[in-house]
Amino acid sequence: MELKVAIEGRRSTRKFSTKKADWRNIIEAIHSTQYAPMAGSIFPFKFVIIDDQEIIKEVAKWSEQEFINQVKYVVAVVSDKDMVKVSFPKESEKFTHQETGAAIENFLLTLSDFGLSTCWIGHFNEEKIKKILKIPEEYEIEALFPIGYSSEKTKKAKPKSDIYNILYFNTWQHNRMRKVEKIESRAPEGY
Ligand SMILES: Cc1cc2nc3c(=O)[nH]c(=O)nc-3n(C[C@H](O)[C@H](O)[C@H](O)COP(=O)(O)O)c2cc1C
Repeated sequence: MELKVAIEGRRSTRKFSTKKADWRNIIEAIHSTQYAPMAGSIFPFKFVIIDDQEIIKEVAKWSEQEFINQVKYVVAVVSDKDMVKVSFPKESEKFTHQETGAAIENFLLTLSDFGLSTCWIGHFNEEKIKKILKIPEEYEIEALFPIGYSSEKTKKAKPKSDIYNILYFNTWQHNRMRKVEKIESRAPEGY
């Protein structure tokens, strides 16, 4: 899939069909995280694939997000910031979270490339879910991903902000750019 199509085609789904995802595609998506940039090439993540419907039910309950019950697979992304701390004691927390984002974006785009859908779940009771999944105390659950096929008609993605409001030149004061023909085509409607 062309990169632009993959990036703009990925959307969160909260309505899933009954079709079960192929677990091999999920493994491939997890594998793709290992190509993300990681400080010192340390890979501080583990993944838990959940296919036990009783456990999924508990995950949905402790995330307060009923729609998670629709899927046959949930992936928990678990980080170990102590691994990062060994080489980067001062930045371990920041690096772990930045690396989480980089790894997860690979994961999401690869799922999307397989025609699979998910929704990044960041709101959950970590203590409860760690207990349910028997994850040791020192690890952190970064996010949960219910995975399946979307039953929604995917709406075309729009940029979440416009480039004129987020871009600075050299220093913070220079935040106004003149319209440039080349990127104008990417600006949201109305520009
Ligand atoms: C850190 C993070 C946490 C999120 N947590 C939740 C969540 O708990 N529940 C949910 O329904 N969506 C959650 N989302 C998904 C966003 O709501 C979603 O990405 C946003 O609505 C934009 O839609 P899009 O992914 O289709 O571009 C989260 C996204 C991120 C990046």
